[in-house]
Amino acid sequence: MSKLRIAVLFGGASTEYEVSLLSASSVLRNIPEDQYDVIKIGITKEGAWYLYSGPIHLIEQNTWQTNRYLTPVALSPDRKSPGILHFTGREGYEHCELLNIDCVFPVLHGKNGEDGTIQGLLELSGIPYVGCGVQASSVCMDKVLTHTILDSAGIPGAKWRKAFPSDLDRLDELEAEWSRELGYPMFVKPANAGSSVGVTKVKDSSQLRPALELAFTVDQKAIIEEGIDGIEVETAVLGNENPQAAAVGEIVPTQEFYSYTAKYSDESTDLYIPARISQEDTENIRETAVRAYRVLGCSGMARVDFFVKRDGSGIVLNEPNTIPGFTSISMYPKLWEYSGLPYPQLLDRLIQLALERKR
Ligand SMILES: Nc1ncnc2c1ncn2[C@@H]1O[C@H](COP(=O)(O)OP(=O)(O)O)[C@@H](O)[C@H]1O
Ligand SMILES: [Mg+2]
Repeated sequence: MSKLRIAVLFGGASTEYEVSLLSASSVLRNIPEDQYDVIKIGITKEGAWYLYSGPIHLIEQNTWQTNRYLTPVALSPDRKSPGILHFTGREGYEHCELLNIDCVFPVLHGKNGEDGTIQGLLELSGIPYVGCGVQASSVCMDKVLTHTILDSAGIPGAKWRKAFPSDLDRLDELEAEWSRELGYPMFVKPANAGSSVGVTKVKDSSQLRPALELAFTVDQKAIIEEGIDGIEVETAVLGNENPQAAAVGEIVPTQEFYSYTAKYSDESTDLYIPARISQEDTENIRETAVRAYRVLGCSGMARVDFFVKRDGSGIVLNEPNTIPGFTSISMYPKLWEYSGLPYPQLLDRLIQLALERKR
């Protein structure tokens, strides 16, 4: 039997472009080569698509955009010829060939990758793809929509409010309400973002306006949450109709909170697998994660993040991530490894789930 051809997408027009390069490098190093024929498709931060034929370490170092390794490609939404259109020739677009693809693995984080947009294009093309579909991707990307759905399902979350740029004109009034209902510290975040981009821990009223202004540079909608004093823990969910949760892991940020720099440049963030929490909290987290996964309509995979409150009053779901970090030190693959599914087998399982959903 010939090998299945997998297209790994990396980069993307997103504030999390750099994170994707690290995740995708790890994925490319771990895909079982005896089973899959892998092609690499890079999307620049500006949104240009290329077939990349160079080595993986140039992706990791963010120097993959060297001309000699790049030829333009496009994903055709046309179902009579599903695949990647590959353009060659002196002017770049003289010849076009169709590369058949059995499955796409979008290793893209944040906007234009994790939010249902690329998933929509892949649905049109009819090509199976790894991870959640259009609706779950877009709902999970938006923290306001996620909170609304999880609240309606009775899944515990932080108290929250939403805000738009026009609300800056009546901030005094809103601050009075929020400080009464949510208290300080509050967390101000763009509704649609990730990797802690634009997130501020607000400790008093003077910090509120700059925090909202920062969030509005990323998205036109912001969410304000009560600050939870808790242990940060995460579990990894995998599956379609019958999703399973892996072990629970714990993150100990060395900074004030788990910020962008703490996530990707500060190597001193400690991870503990399993998390140092009670058996009861662990089971509650695994069950709640699967329940949230179903309520949100997820398929393929999602990492679901929680807080275990330090006052002993239980757990709070922080957020789902439909394309979690996939670097060698990332929680999602590490949790599955701990739970008995090594990284290459996890990737194989994700591809099989994509094919199964398509059938
Ligand atoms: N309500 C909250 N209470 C306490 N800490 C929070 C809260 N919301 C976010 N944080 C901290 O900020 C980090 C980033 O926020 P998060 O909601 O996970 O956004 P992102 O999608 O950018 O990862 C979290 O990992 C956590 O450390
Ligand atoms: Mg997060």
